[in-house]
Amino acid sequence: MTVIVQEPTLSVEGNDLENKTNNVFEEEEENLELKLDGGFVVPDNNAFGHSFRDYEKESERKDSVEQFYRTQHINQTYEFAVEKKEEYAKLQKAVMSIWECCELLNEFVDESDPDLDEPQIEHLLQTAEAVRRDYPNEDWLHLTALIHDLGKVMLHPSFGGEPQWCVVGDTFPLGCAFNDAIVHHQYFKENPDYYNPKYNTKLGVYSENCGLDKVTMSWGHDEYMYLVAKDNKTTLPYAGLFIIRFHSFYALHRSNAYTYLMNEEDEEGLKWLRIFNKYDLYSKSKVKINQEEVKPYYMSLIEKYFPGKLRW
Ligand SMILES: [Fe+2]
Ligand SMILES: [Fe+2]
Repeated sequence: MTVIVQEPTLSVEGNDLENKTNNVFEEEEENLELKLDGGFVVPDNNAFGHSFRDYEKESERKDSVEQFYRTQHINQTYEFAVEKKEEYAKLQKAVMSIWECCELLNEFVDESDPDLDEPQIEHLLQTAEAVRRDYPNEDWLHLTALIHDLGKVMLHPSFGGEPQWCVVGDTFPLGCAFNDAIVHHQYFKENPDYYNPKYNTKLGVYSENCGLDKVTMSWGHDEYMYLVAKDNKTTLPYAGLFIIRFHSFYALHRSNAYTYLMNEEDEEGLKWLRIFNKYDLYSKSKVKINQEEVKPYYMSLIEKYFPGKLRW
């Protein structure tokens, strides 16, 4: 299966339907449902004038995004992800507050993102402000949006300047077979795990419905920020932590792959993740948020859920 192309249009009537794959149709149904629950208006195009997450459309970023995924898919092995998690779980890289980390990220652009080439802090604030507009009472969700990508700080020299392929991009389970729903999955043929009989069956090292908590995901900013939040004893609810941990797991939350690894608790988290995802994806634009204006609000949330300095 090739990459799922996001079609943000709402009209799915008449002959149009015959030309669409089931997958795209299901996605449109899903969009319709999600759009109604929060009132968020999905824009037609990304910052480059194309559909969102369209990895096939010719654009100035297409080739570099594809190259990014080739490198990521070759290098993310089960052993690699286990080692990285052990290293970063020590939380010995830095001591800083959440807002300090937001500012540190200002220098970086995500090379895996076909929809945006703005500095990360813009994306964090755009996502958080869009969520806040539609869910004014869920302050935990505003803060979750603000911090969901802070794990990208691994790109920073003071964190060892990790390469983009082990920080950003879609994530996927390791230790079991790669699913065709993963973007540019053809490049897994160059990953040694692809040929390892321990890891290349449907369940691999896992058991049916073992729960995502037991699954080793490809290493990246999701898992890192989850570790930071959890081990610094945040009071964010379970759904916030789930969103942070699995927001790049598109094969699951967009294509329903790997659901056999989920348990009941994961189902609840997934509901919120799907709501969050449309803001993560569709709030990306060239429109800048006035940082100084919104900062006091987010500082109050940081004080509530992550007081003081954190270990990173
Ligand atoms: Fe992310
Ligand atoms: Fe994001």
